[in-house]
Amino acid sequence: MDWITAFLLAYLLGSVPFGLLLTRLAGTEDLRSIGSGNIGATNVLRTGRKGLAAGTLLLDLVKGAAAVLLAHHFLPGTEGLAALAAVIGHCFPVWLKFRGGKGVATTAGVAFGLGWPIGLAYALVWIGMLALTRISSLSGICAAVALPIAGYAMGRADLLPWLVAIAALVIVLHRANIARLRNGTEPRVGKRG
Ligand code: G3P
Repeated sequence: MDWITAFLLAYLLGSVPFGLLLTRLAGTEDLRSIGSGNIGATNVLRTGRKGLAAGTLLLDLVKGAAAVLLAHHFLPGTEGLAALAAVIGHCFPVWLKFRGGKGVATTAGVAFGLGWPIGLAYALVWIGMLALTRISSLSGICAAVALPIAGYAMGRADLLPWLVAIAALVIVLHRANIARLRNGTEPRVGKRG
C-alpha cells in the first residue's frame, strides 16, 4: 500500500506543468505551439522570457526533490520509486492528456533528493555539457547517462534499477532530439528553434 501511495503522491507532484502554468500566467504564446513543443525550461527560453525559463527550471527541479524528500519522510524505503514516479508525472501528466516534458530538470531534482553527491554529479555533467556545446538536449542526455553511474559510484547500488529506469525514460523521450543531433539540425540554446 505504501508503494502505491508513494507512487501516486510523487506522480501528482511531478505532473504539475510549471512551464505551461508560468507562460500562461505571463500571457505568452502556448508553449506547445512553439519550438519543440516541449513544456520544459529550454522551450520556455524560446519565448524570449529568460526569467520564466529560470523559474520553470527551478520549480521543475524543486518538485522532483520534494517528491523524494516527502517519500523519505513519510514512506521511508520508497525514495527510488518516488523519484521515478515524479519523472513519469512530469513526462506524462494526466492534466495534459499524458503529453508532458522530457524530464531533465525534474531528474535533477530527484537526484538531489536522493543525495546531494548524486545531484551534484548530475548537475556538473548537465551544466558542463551545456557550457561546452550549448545544446540542451545533448546535455540532458549526457546527464541522464551519468545518473546511474553516479549513483553506483557513490555507494547507492540499491537505487540502480530506479536510476537506470529514469535515465532510459529521459533518453527515449529525446528520440526526436537525437534524430536532429544526428543530422545536425538540433538548435543551440539562445537561438530560436
Ligand atoms: O529538457 C528538455 C531538453 O533536453 C530538450 O528540450 O525543447 O530542445 O526539445 P527541447
